[in-house]
Amino acid sequence: MAGFTLITALVSLSVTSVLAAPQGTGGGGEGGAGGFVPLINKQYTWDNIPYKVDTDRGLARGEQLGYNRCNSTTEGPESLCQTAIINSLDDFCFWAPPEPGRAVGEIEGEMVAWCTQPGHGTRVIPDGTITGVQFTKAPNYVQVVGFMDQTKVDMDCW
Ligand SMILES: *[C@@H]1O[C@H](CO)[C@@H](O)[C@H](O)[C@H]1NC(C)=O
Repeated sequence: MAGFTLITALVSLSVTSVLAAPQGTGGGGEGGAGGFVPLINKQYTWDNIPYKVDTDRGLARGEQLGYNRCNSTTEGPESLCQTAIINSLDDFCFWAPPEPGRAVGEIEGEMVAWCTQPGHGTRVIPDGTITGVQFTKAPNYVQVVGFMDQTKVDMDCW
C-alpha cells in the first residue's frame, strides 16, 4: 500500500475564503522589485483574483507555474489552476505536484489545485485517494485534515 500523509489546509475565514496560490517574495501580486510580501498579505476579493498571484522572478520556492483564474476550460487532469477552494467536507481542494517525481519542498510555486469536486477549473482528486478526512470550521479559520494515498495525486512517497 502506498504511503499516507497528512493533508492540512488553513485559510482565514472571510466573505470569500480563497487559497490563492503559493507564496514567495513578491510585490503584492503586481510583480516588479517590491519588497517581500507574506502570503497572508496577498488577499483578493473573489471577483478580483489576478491571473497569477506571484508574478515575481527568483522566488525561493520556485516561480508560479500556473494561474489563479480558473474556469471550465482549465479543468481536467492537465490543469495548471492553482486556486484551491475550501467550501465543506465534500467540496475542498489542496495543492499537489503537477507531475510525479519531484520533491514538494522544491516546487511549492508549481503545486496545482486538486479538488474533491469538478466545477472549480482544477484537477479532480481520483477516487480512492482520500481515506479519511475531518473538516473544522472555527470563527477565524477552516481546516481540513486527513489521510490519503498521496501517490494518486503525483506526490512521491519515499
Ligand atoms: C479561463 O481561464 C483561463 C486561464 O486563466 C483564461 O486564459 C481564459 O481567458 C478563461 N476563459 C474565460 C472564458 O474566462
